[in-house]
Amino acid sequence: MSKHSDVLVVGAGIIGLTAAWRAACRGLSVTVLDPTPRDGASMAAAGMLAAVCEADFGEPELAAMNVDSAARWPDFAAELEKASRLDVGLRQTGTLTLAFDPDDLAETRRLIDLQHRWGLVSEEISTAQARRISPLVGRVAGGAWMPDDHQVDPRATTRALDAAARAAGAVVVECRAVRLTSASGRVVGAVDAAGVDRTADLVVVAAGVSSTGLLATAGIHAPLRPVKGITLRLAAEPWFDVEPVVRARVQGRAVYAVTRVADESGFREVVIGASSDEKPDDRRVEAGSVFALLRDARAVLPGIDELDLREASPRVRPSAPDNLPYLDASVDGLLVATGHGRNGILLTPLTSAVVDATLDETDLPDVVAPAMMNRHTRIRTEEAS
Ligand code: GLY
Repeated sequence: MSKHSDVLVVGAGIIGLTAAWRAACRGLSVTVLDPTPRDGASMAAAGMLAAVCEADFGEPELAAMNVDSAARWPDFAAELEKASRLDVGLRQTGTLTLAFDPDDLAETRRLIDLQHRWGLVSEEISTAQARRISPLVGRVAGGAWMPDDHQVDPRATTRALDAAARAAGAVVVECRAVRLTSASGRVVGAVDAAGVDRTADLVVVAAGVSSTGLLATAGIHAPLRPVKGITLRLAAEPWFDVEPVVRARVQGRAVYAVTRVADESGFREVVIGASSDEKPDDRRVEAGSVFALLRDARAVLPGIDELDLREASPRVRPSAPDNLPYLDASVDGLLVATGHGRNGILLTPLTSAVVDATLDETDLPDVVAPAMMNRHTRIRTEEAS
């Protein structure tokens, strides 16, 4: 059996649904394939828009993409909320970074120095200043304030994208894509696990770590590795009033806590994250990871001890060898938008702009030039010559 759509999207996470919405709202027919829609990395993500905090040594190109995308979030959220009539939980709260001991403070200062060299806004603050921002801060050596790092609710955003895409006519089919189909050097569709040959004028691959195997069926090299992360969700008591995102370094380990209103009833959650292990998506919640997250989070926010632990969500971050995403429309008939690693939520509006440019046949934003898939083959060729 064969079915045709203008656009076929593989993957119904935050990236795939963004592509589906952008295409469907142009009046194009859109089919989305995913065996378990909205159940990948986006459902575990905490939703930090942490372009400053996540800037790291050796990753200037990723930092530039993160900064670009962070600036796009307000317009993206406004357009999505209008289309879906749902709140996506974008809150301009800033981020408080805490350093547990003097070594953590020294590391925090090194990062502030890097952030300043890259033109990012951050400022060292004392423990007393940190406590003025949140009186719940525990015994720490010091901290920093990042006024431009905000937060959004990933689950609310994914629900809104799903609603907006469907309202514009996109169809989500709960089935896996098993291989891409090509003709004359052009990708022309995908065969799904039910044996349906789905043709399309444009195929968007946004399938997380399984994108690598799917792209390989068309001879395309886009390596991704799974980086497992567990996030915890706790119920925030009324007195647990921590408005900004809190990030901390605790004896060299990173931890964060994001407090938000999580549903229409006013229920407030605290998302604590995240473990980071180079291993596949086994969906296990290791006791040691939960212990380490709670130990480090309560070291800087002791009130966490009193909260009700509701959920632990293990998922994998789809990560390329160099931690850059793949945003690449260089193969005819194909847009690859995957491999967003630690920054899937943050990079969604930039990815949306890449989808728009592909559909409009205009140039992709300059900042995504380093996200081409051929960067790996290019390195191999240069090494060989
Ligand atoms: N961006 C936060 C994380 O990946 O845990």
